[in-house]
Amino acid sequence: MKILGIETSCDETAAAVVENGTKVLSNVIASSVDMHSQTGGVVPEVAAREHIIQISPVIDKAMLDAGTEWSDIDAIAVTYAPGLIASLLIGVNTAQTLAYIHKKPLIPVHHVSGHIYANWLDRGGDDLDLQSSVFEFPILVLTISGGHNELVLMKGHHDFEVIGETLDDAAGEAFDKVARLLNLGFPGGPVISKRAESGDPSAYDFPRPMLDKDNKYNFSFSGLKSAVRREVDECEMGNTKSEIIDDISASFQSAVIDVLADKLVMAADEFGVKAVHLAGGVSANQLLRKTVRERLSDNIELFWPEKMIYCTDNAAMVASSGYFQYQKKGAQLEKIEPSSQKPLT
Ligand code: KG4
Ligand code: ZN
Repeated sequence: MKILGIETSCDETAAAVVENGTKVLSNVIASSVDMHSQTGGVVPEVAAREHIIQISPVIDKAMLDAGTEWSDIDAIAVTYAPGLIASLLIGVNTAQTLAYIHKKPLIPVHHVSGHIYANWLDRGGDDLDLQSSVFEFPILVLTISGGHNELVLMKGHHDFEVIGETLDDAAGEAFDKVARLLNLGFPGGPVISKRAESGDPSAYDFPRPMLDKDNKYNFSFSGLKSAVRREVDECEMGNTKSEIIDDISASFQSAVIDVLADKLVMAADEFGVKAVHLAGGVSANQLLRKTVRERLSDNIELFWPEKMIYCTDNAAMVASSGYFQYQKKGAQLEKIEPSSQKPLT
């Protein structure tokens, strides 16, 4: 079964064709990130305008790269929530129109479930049935992005229980805000992790908010960001030396990773999972991957998306999630209502 996926929830206009939820036939991404790097964050109006310009050529290219005609496509999957509402509307309206014209079933996909299914993409081998059952449940997934930060217990396909989430900033958002404080540009994750390589992670003793027992799997990164701000203010950033930026980057990164890894490992033990998956933009972070592997019991497998490009926003993950959702629940017949906030269910 071949699904066309469409993703426009933030600043990436993306389309992809994926076979049986696992084999990526094409994966096209047009990003307006360069425009947002000038403003230090995504400007919703600018993102929406770029989606309108990009969406048709991106879909055409995804179809061309995959060597597919409309008659080869079995269904269309589109991100409907959460995200920037004007951006979501463009993807959803486009998908609805294409589904109507070409008489295809339409599958509304939750963006976070898309990130979760990024781990199923291109897992190797030619046997598509085998690929789709490559993991044993239950799986614990840490979804860490600019806009979301959840610990999800996955008991089967599209059987999600959110056991923890952020009470304020998401991990990626914290990287982006700290990069802004340090004048390092946007997005913050890649540049902070690069600067951290030359810094001392113990130079600054930033807080590691683990929270009380009622919140043991929830996260909170805004206090950490404020602690970095206080340090930056004291340093009078205008004159800050390069080594100080490296040290702040390394100390901040180490605090975020400690919190993420410790809660993840604690939950993996409590829920007796077979595997842990990292997903979302921050799962590209090499030190996070290494730290989680070191702290996780040897009998629990650890996975992150097969390619870097599947960590950040893309449409192949949307097509994959759509495939498994379609197997379970079929297509949506009623009108799709995009939503900026909807939790994962
Ligand atoms: O999943 P994603 O593309 O978009 C959202 O759905 O939000 O994630 C983007 C986030 C940004 O906040 C970016 O700073 C972060 O992922 N990120 C990283 C790294 N690469 C991207 N954070 C830490 N380390 C990285 N290497
Ligand atoms: Zn995302």
